[in-house]
Amino acid sequence: ESSQFCDAGIGYGESTCGVSSSSSTKLLIKGGTVVNAHEMEVADVYVEDGIIVAVRPNIKVGDDVTVLDATGKFVMPGGIDPHTHLDFEFMGTQTIDDFFSGQAAALAGGTTMHIDFAIPVNGSLLSGLEAYEKKSKKSCMDYGFHMAITKWDEVVSKEMEIMVNEKGINSFKFFMHYKGSLMINDELLLQGFKKCKSLGALAMVHAENGDAAYEGQRRMIELGITGPEGNALSSPPVLEGEATARAIKLAGFVNTPLYVVHVMSIDAMEEISRARKSGLKVIGEPVVSGLVLNDSWLWDPDFITAAKYVMSPPIRAAGHGKALQAALSMGTLQLVGTDHCTFNSTQKALGIDDFQKIPNGVNGIEERMHLVWDTMVESGQISVTDYVRVTSTECARIFNIYPRKGAIRAGSDADIIILNPNSSFEISAKSHHSRSDTNVYEGWRGKGKVEVTISGGRVVWLNDELKVFPGSGKYVEMRPFSYLFNGIGKADAKYLSSLKAPVKRFRATT
Ligand code: URP
Ligand code: ZN
Ligand code: ZN
Ligand code: ZN
Repeated sequence: ESSQFCDAGIGYGESTCGVSSSSSTKLLIKGGTVVNAHEMEVADVYVEDGIIVAVRPNIKVGDDVTVLDATGKFVMPGGIDPHTHLDFEFMGTQTIDDFFSGQAAALAGGTTMHIDFAIPVNGSLLSGLEAYEKKSKKSCMDYGFHMAITKWDEVVSKEMEIMVNEKGINSFKFFMHYKGSLMINDELLLQGFKKCKSLGALAMVHAENGDAAYEGQRRMIELGITGPEGNALSSPPVLEGEATARAIKLAGFVNTPLYVVHVMSIDAMEEISRARKSGLKVIGEPVVSGLVLNDSWLWDPDFITAAKYVMSPPIRAAGHGKALQAALSMGTLQLVGTDHCTFNSTQKALGIDDFQKIPNGVNGIEERMHLVWDTMVESGQISVTDYVRVTSTECARIFNIYPRKGAIRAGSDADIIILNPNSSFEISAKSHHSRSDTNVYEGWRGKGKVEVTISGGRVVWLNDELKVFPGSGKYVEMRPFSYLFNGIGKADAKYLSSLKAPVKRFRATT
């Protein structure tokens, strides 16, 4: 093949090029506007062996260095997706994207790291992690794990210590939804929050009242509503608002930071806003589907078209997305994920007669960077520096891997994208790199295109061609006690002193 780059296409397993990657261990990105979360400047970026060595104007190099011209373009930290489900066994089936195809898609869209949710096996965190370590061996970009907590006992409590102290995991997700499978109760939530606090690990919640959503599903079936619209109708925003408020209040009672995943509604966003105004350490993560889509698709007469939008919490009525965008631009919400959890049409068809059986999840890992640029930067809602913050830097800070990730600066990993603001993108299942046969953003055209992706110092995406190798991605260990834990001890001390001394009472003597 003449091209140095392979079109890896769908179903690729190995690179067919055979071109050695050693030629790209030294790399110079010339003349672009280098963007970090707090500044931008025209500068060159020099990379050696996967690490950024220098960032300054007019860097001179020898002719053994590969040079990429970025004049008139933005040079930014690769995206970090805080919320994905690759190779996930869920609702009686398995996501169609595994750690290779999902990551290849991510790289083609400018995301160079993701944090996936490792799921326990029969409640065991160690077995769950072992399974995810196997699944992720084929990785072609860097990744980390959150761990879900699905039951509570002394063993789980001890395993949480092992996860944090030995396995590089610093966050745990609690599902307040999916009654009968992943859902946990308030007692477990409290025990889990307490343990997270003691370990310096971040508690994360899927906030939806699972008991009420279950009741909502009964109601829909009784009314004869069995189609995909039952997804939205059975779990309205009020159930998300209630669970968000409950999780926030319980985390506040324990005094530990909280991260609310996939914030889909005004109701949930307003609870987060109120909490942050009162000084609580609460992070809110909108996902791309919640920011840019609305629920009208769920009423589409074609089952497969409607079913591809089924997820939990449901995509909301028009108006919620706009409000979430505003909250993101104001800083009420801090970073954008995807909840990438893809099923193809045959899998979605498991729920042809009953919306409760439609596997929940939508795509987004490849589309996030483009859609956030198009929706938020092109519209003038956020600056280019804020774009870097919400797609990369803030995630790196929250999960304590900054500035190794999330920054273009000497010493950081060379996970870099070049975005051309004058070019355009178009989304279609025909051209995307996910294995899914559908795309919830089908037909979307927008401004701004990721033209180059560099992962670990290697050019993996150029001229619309992917060059990826299974096994080249590294596991990124994440240490506890991120910046969110600053001040937790002071607040505890203040609380204890407010209790004053125990009241001395005298017993009446006779
Ligand atoms: O519908 C969704 N969100 N599927 C993935 C699992 C989860 O709740 O994050
Ligand atoms: Zn090739
Ligand atoms: Zn969830
Ligand atoms: Zn999820």
